Amino acid sequence: MQTALRTSLPETELASRANFAPHTRVVREERPLQASGLPLSIRGLRKSFGDNEVLRGIDLHIPAGQFVAIVGKSGCGKSTLLRLIAGLDKIDAGSIGFGQDIQPEDIRVMFQEPRLLPWARVLANVEVGLGRDRASKDAHDRAEKALIEVGLADKRDQWPSVLSGGQKQRVALGRALVSRPRVLAFDEPLGALDALTRISMQRLLERVWRDQGFTAILVTHDVSEAVALADRVLVIDEGRIAHDVTVNAARPRQRGSAELAALEGSILSHLLSADDRT
Ligand SMILES: Nc1ncnc2c1ncn2[C@@H]1O[C@H](COP(=O)(O)OP(=O)(O)OP(=O)(O)O)[C@@H](O)[C@H]1O
Ligand SMILES: [Mg+2]
Repeated sequence: MQTALRTSLPETELASRANFAPHTRVVREERPLQASGLPLSIRGLRKSFGDNEVLRGIDLHIPAGQFVAIVGKSGCGKSTLLRLIAGLDKIDAGSIGFGQDIQPEDIRVMFQEPRLLPWARVLANVEVGLGRDRASKDAHDRAEKALIEVGLADKRDQWPSVLSGGQKQRVALGRALVSRPRVLAFDEPLGALDALTRISMQRLLERVWRDQGFTAILVTHDVSEAVALADRVLVIDEGRIAHDVTVNAARPRQRGSAELAALEGSILSHLLSADDRT
């Protein structure tokens, strides 16, 4: 029992889409650093909980490697959409496709709580993200590389309990990155961090996304975070994508620039008008 616990990830962390390709591959090669993102096509997606019709027909195409942010008032269905994309919940109607068969390791989700295993040291926590490759010879090396990417190589032998909130989130990011995911979904990953740590984590997210080329889907309450990081911001309202806003600002982005402030203002006004209707 203990062994199983030590090596397993919290239920929600690993995507477990029922229609993933059968697990035929035992050894996976490490992905190349570039162009690893998968496109995402969603058609007529619907999801209800009892008589609560949360998603009422989502149609969306995300090109490979795009960074998309999703905003919307509390309870509008952002986490529900992310869980469906990650295969953590069943869709009622419609389809979600990635242009090819996918493996469980292709999609990772990072949550607001780091969900680290308290009985495992930092390096072992990162190795858990390798999924079926955890037992492979290069598991340690790959986990070390992921820790270097998130700037925590010197914490590899620490217990999670001695880390700060920001450091724990970086371990969670390392665990999400270690399998070289092709789609990385973030559900408010920075929501619990102080302002300065948050900005430093935003920069880290942008850097690893640029370096690795995965398709990024970030759910956030923070519209300034959305426009600072994303190529495109989707506003969800009444179960549908109400606005699809392209962010053309060049990278690196100038926080507080007039261009981003104007976009932020217009997205906020969409959100407020949605709120006024309730
Ligand atoms: N497992 C569930 N069972 C029943 N209802 C659920 C379940 N998960 C979500 N819901 C309901 O679906 C709706 C959307 O929830 P969801 O968590 O997707 O919202 P959200 O946009 O992520 O909100 P927040 O910004 O507060 O995180 C809510 O009304 C919620 O109560
Ligand atoms: Mg949510």
